[in-house]
Amino acid sequence: MCGIFGYVSKNKTRAIPVILDGLKRLEYRGYDSSGIAAVVSGRILCKKKSGRIHEVEKILNNTWDSQAAIGHTRWATHGAPTDRNAHPHFDCSKKIYLVHNGIIENFRELKDRLLKRGHKFQSDTDTEVVAHLVEDFAKNEGVSFEEAVRLALKSIVGTYAFVFIHADHPGKIIVARNSSPLLVGFTDNEKYVASDASAVLPYTRKVVYLQDGEFAILTHNDFRIATLDRKAVLRNEERIEWSEDMVRKNNFPHFMLKEIFEEPEAVSNAIRGRLVLKDGLAKLGGLELVQNDLRKINRLILTACGTAYLAALVGEYMLEEYSGIPVETEYASELRYKKHNLDLKTALLAVSQSGETADTLGALKEIKRKGLLTLGVVNSIGSSIARETKAGVYNHAGPEIGVASTKAFVSQVAVMALLTLFLGRQRDMSLNTGRKISDELTKIPDKIKSILAGAKQIKKIADKYYKYENFLYLGRKYNYPVALEGALKLKEISYIHAEGYGAGEMKHGPIAMIDKDFPSVVIAPSDGMYGKVVNNIQEIKARGGKVIVVATKGNKEIAKIADDVIYIPETIEMLTPMLSVVPLHLFAYYVGVLRGNDVDKPRNLAKSVTVE
Ligand code: G6P
Repeated sequence: MCGIFGYVSKNKTRAIPVILDGLKRLEYRGYDSSGIAAVVSGRILCKKKSGRIHEVEKILNNTWDSQAAIGHTRWATHGAPTDRNAHPHFDCSKKIYLVHNGIIENFRELKDRLLKRGHKFQSDTDTEVVAHLVEDFAKNEGVSFEEAVRLALKSIVGTYAFVFIHADHPGKIIVARNSSPLLVGFTDNEKYVASDASAVLPYTRKVVYLQDGEFAILTHNDFRIATLDRKAVLRNEERIEWSEDMVRKNNFPHFMLKEIFEEPEAVSNAIRGRLVLKDGLAKLGGLELVQNDLRKINRLILTACGTAYLAALVGEYMLEEYSGIPVETEYASELRYKKHNLDLKTALLAVSQSGETADTLGALKEIKRKGLLTLGVVNSIGSSIARETKAGVYNHAGPEIGVASTKAFVSQVAVMALLTLFLGRQRDMSLNTGRKISDELTKIPDKIKSILAGAKQIKKIADKYYKYENFLYLGRKYNYPVALEGALKLKEISYIHAEGYGAGEMKHGPIAMIDKDFPSVVIAPSDGMYGKVVNNIQEIKARGGKVIVVATKGNKEIAKIADDVIYIPETIEMLTPMLSVVPLHLFAYYVGVLRGNDVDKPRNLAKSVTVE
């Protein structure tokens, strides 16, 4: 949600191309508007525009010589996505420019105060107040740029990642963070600031993650981190393990398609080195520290947002069935405000691809404050949720750039299966069940590959259905969350109205919508629920509805009832979601493309929602 980028260097010619490149890599975080500002010969030059980054690129002068520059790609919160609300924002003197990701909660109060003191505002954003606040402190308190930034930060209530530049300080940028992601990448003569690691990858692998309540002063050859109370902070550098190739499309037309085709690898990476097949065990290094605490828990709450929530919901079915621990899954946005009657034997597990989702982080902090054990399943190494939890499991799915999550989902479900083994085998799960699950898990990547090999057939089905305006997705038990995920993906990418339901609930409402123009996608693998789900299919057919069925290979009978069938290989019931979701991801992708949408950057959405 909003991407920010900053750059300071000895060399004056690189700033603009580097910022542009960084913004393009961050564009998935928001694409309502973008802008760039740079210190050029004692003045700040700025270009900003609503729309995608190429709009700004068109009006930008690439010959600006600058040592320090900032850039922003916006997902609008306060103020419409217009040119004047685009970042960077600036003060009255036009000497202080800044970019921001987050929300300033007390901005009205600050703005009223600043208006009374004669400040003139150019935008409707919450961000602009901060530029004027810094100006006000510098003028009226007679303090330095750095000190004025510190005082301004201390007056703000809200979330932020900021990058500031000043016309009188051509070789310096100041950055600050509170609950919005920010990292500093560095080489000896250049410093980069970005919302996430993928943006600095072409330039450096050495990074330092800023923590909440910290700010840093960066010059080309130095950086100092301090708390807002002026305590110096020493932080070790970390190394990004992702490669440059991982954040490229390679030969795929879209990141989304590339990432769906990476689903087999995402599962392989999640389980690699973590299964002891002969003992039917999962070895999760990140949980070793809390192994004994986990033996004692008697309740587990899973929390997440969006697609991660649906992966957690699959996890709930697995854990309840095999681990012997009562489990419930809550939207993080609900959990953080709900009274739960928790006791200290309850643990919380937050699931998040980015590790930065504001609601998930908020819920986690709230539960942690109550003294409960907190765990994470996170893809982004070093992210806020990874750091805030006591222990956890990394997905190792690699960077996910497409805004709609795909490979992260199968990877999260794979980790849920590992957790089920881990916790189940600590308790009642038998050696044989443990062996069966772990053995089947190792076969999932190849089974996903075989589904992907049939992508052409799914494209043909998309050709047939892409003009319909409504879809119903049905699944039951383990495949109920998959039905929700299929509907969510179709909505996100194609803007078609799609509803996901537990198949059993169909007769309590959704069936009223069925007619010849309202097709259904039904997940009906040959498992314990098959007979019941086939009844639902018959009920839809009896009302003239068209049905696309996802069924287990070898089931010929289903082809006699369904309009279209997509086959998936057989596996054990708890692992079917990793297979049944694959055709649904492909179907949503093809329908989105056929409808002419920008599937990697669907309208109004953002990859990482770092505001509440
Ligand atoms: C946004 C994205 C979704 C994602 C959700 C949770 O809504 O568009 O694809 O599932 O956030 O994100 P997280 O990073 O916490 O998994």
